[in-house]
Amino acid sequence: MKALVLSGGKGTRLRPITHTSAKQLVPIANKPILFYVLEAVAQAGIRETGIVVGDTADEIRAAVGDGSAWGLRVTYIPQEAPLGLAHAVKISEGFIGGDPFVMMLGDNLLRDGIKEFVKEFEEKRPNAQILLAKVARPEQFGVAELSDGKVLRLTEKPKDPRSDLALVGVYMFDSHIFEAVESIRPSARGELEITDAIQHLIDRGLRVVPHTVTGWWKDTGKLEDLLEANRLVLESQKPRNDGATDRSSKIEGKVVIERNAQIIQSTIRGPAIIGENSSVRNSYVGPYTAVYHHSVLENCEIEHSIVLEHSMISNVRRIEGSLIGQNAVVTQSPAKPSAYRIMIGDSSRVEVP
Ligand code: DAU
Repeated sequence: MKALVLSGGKGTRLRPITHTSAKQLVPIANKPILFYVLEAVAQAGIRETGIVVGDTADEIRAAVGDGSAWGLRVTYIPQEAPLGLAHAVKISEGFIGGDPFVMMLGDNLLRDGIKEFVKEFEEKRPNAQILLAKVARPEQFGVAELSDGKVLRLTEKPKDPRSDLALVGVYMFDSHIFEAVESIRPSARGELEITDAIQHLIDRGLRVVPHTVTGWWKDTGKLEDLLEANRLVLESQKPRNDGATDRSSKIEGKVVIERNAQIIQSTIRGPAIIGENSSVRNSYVGPYTAVYHHSVLENCEIEHSIVLEHSMISNVRRIEGSLIGQNAVVTQSPAKPSAYRIMIGDSSRVEVP
């Protein structure tokens, strides 16, 4: 059994963060999303792992290396452009050979990993196994129609979904999938869709088995989902303090303070995490907030947000539901006239009261 992890793509819905870095490396509770994916692969007992990479290949390689940190043997598979999930399968045939494999999208997060799913596939040995979850907005996903527990039809992002069962970004295949990805044509959005390739298997009478997710699942492609995933992971963390906290600070609930972090005259109300070498001074950090490494927060209040590395927030009344990029500065200025002065990246979004 091999694994194929997809870490290419464009990340248009997370711009401007993804103008400069890979969306799969955005941290959830201070750990890149892709690392959770690799942990899930390793926990399922798989070793040989291919990672499909695009424009951000160098960054992904620098973060993952040879995969030995997870006990994996990683092979990088360059994709010339994000031409679709089925295209990613197509270019990986040489790596997969004749083995069955699990394909996992590098921006999908599952509470319970993929161990049970892989085990079921190995026991039943269908030609493909798909993972499904009930969602509120099925039109944003691949959608499955079932009848008597069998998969009837799969449609990619349908305008009028026939069910609320979304395709989760974890799929298992035997080598029949390679013939299917050769047979399909690009969709309206110009991609070779894995949804269409699986439909091709169904149409040929091959066995495609559904498996429903029990724990939570998040596709972290959009800001709201990223913040929600951050909330879910922080909720399950064990409190720990490896940094320094002064006497006048209050640490409440599930809070993780990482190495060399400093908390001075501040309140941290968990679930929250403060990263290595970051400092929080005279501030309030509220529930569901993750501050990554080497950041500075002073005289501010922040809640339900993610702050990336080497950033600074200073003298700001209250920030909520936000994603602050690397090396960003959010500060108050005494200069007159009193106004918003903003240097903001392309495709950014700012909401002011
Ligand atoms: O998250 C589940 C959904 O993922 C499914 O319900 C859909 O059926 C499936 O098509 C997919 O939809 P998305 O539109 O969310 O896929 P996205 O373009 O965001 O790509 C998912 C991951 O795969 C992302 O980490 C980037 C990577 N990727 C994507 C493409 C198109 C590649 O590595 N290469 C590619 O060519």
